[in-house]
Amino acid sequence: MAISYKELGLVNSKELFRKAVAGGYAIPAYNFNNLEQMQAILQACVETKSPVILQVSSGARKYANATLLRNMAKGATEYVKELGYNIPIVLHLDHGDTFELCKECIDNGFSSVMIDGSHHSYEENIALTKKVVEYAHAHDVTVEGELGVLAGVEDDVVAEHSTYTKPSEVEDFVKRTGVDSLAISIGTSHGANKFTPAQCTKDANGVLIPPMLRFDILEEIEKRIPGFPIVLHGSSSVPPEHVETINKFGGALKDTIGIPEEWLRKAAKSAVCKINIDSDGRLAMTASIRKTFAEKPGEFDPRKYLGPARDLLKELYKHKNIHVLGSANQA
Ligand code: G3H
Ligand code: 13P
Ligand code: ZN
Repeated sequence: MAISYKELGLVNSKELFRKAVAGGYAIPAYNFNNLEQMQAILQACVETKSPVILQVSSGARKYANATLLRNMAKGATEYVKELGYNIPIVLHLDHGDTFELCKECIDNGFSSVMIDGSHHSYEENIALTKKVVEYAHAHDVTVEGELGVLAGVEDDVVAEHSTYTKPSEVEDFVKRTGVDSLAISIGTSHGANKFTPAQCTKDANGVLIPPMLRFDILEEIEKRIPGFPIVLHGSSSVPPEHVETINKFGGALKDTIGIPEEWLRKAAKSAVCKINIDSDGRLAMTASIRKTFAEKPGEFDPRKYLGPARDLLKELYKHKNIHVLGSANQA
């Protein structure tokens, strides 16, 4: 039997995006796969009074089990009230790749889905996205489409090279599909290995600066579809302190540079109203767990290493909401 997100106390993204575009901030879209990640996201968003999009990839669904995830999301709406502040929560499918997967999520309590047809031809992308939109809108669920390809890893799909979104296509795509928001490609990429030091230039203080995002494309898109909600994937900043901690305590991460926070802040002030962050959370948790294992080799209670990892994750998300996305105090 199908379960509507409304029964779980969730909301779709429509009203959140309208306010975010008008207010010049972005809603955080944080991925979760387990209890600790969900706790950290919700605690951070309650403490900063931020709306939130809880994102689940198809890999996360396989890892955590769809039934458990749905019940965790139901628990989430009760948990935030218990924490003392009722923030709006969207449960979103990240990078849905088939109509069947999107339908299954809509039938199982998701309030928003992404259909990522960006690897298909333009016309195939339109046909697939339109089909999902028709089903989703019949259930009051919002849909995110994508035009342009990001480099990096999404589940089992690895795109070696990115293709920037063509502004000339966006108006037609939005009109013909009926999507509620559009993910675009302007130079961000998935994963922790976004830019190598060799791809960067140094500023006056010796800080490595990656190639500039294509804000010109974003501006052109905004001109063509004014006020339409734009989504930025691949928006982790790859905090150097977490990479250093991981490597200090036995890790082997490559030197890597993420998306500077000022650039994300600038994007959030524009039509970008949803910013996707996953890798930074993975780095923070891994850094904390490696540190605990190195400093307390006798520890074997998962709560003793997952607990501090959860706390660090919470601080990371609070920082993002307050200083990067501008979503604090918007719930
Ligand atoms: O864009 C991809 C997200 O970071 C989700 O990653 O597919 O490994 O769960 P995942
Ligand atoms: P990052 O890998 O940069 O965190 O991007 C996550 C993302 O786009 C999820 O859809
Ligand atoms: Zn993504």
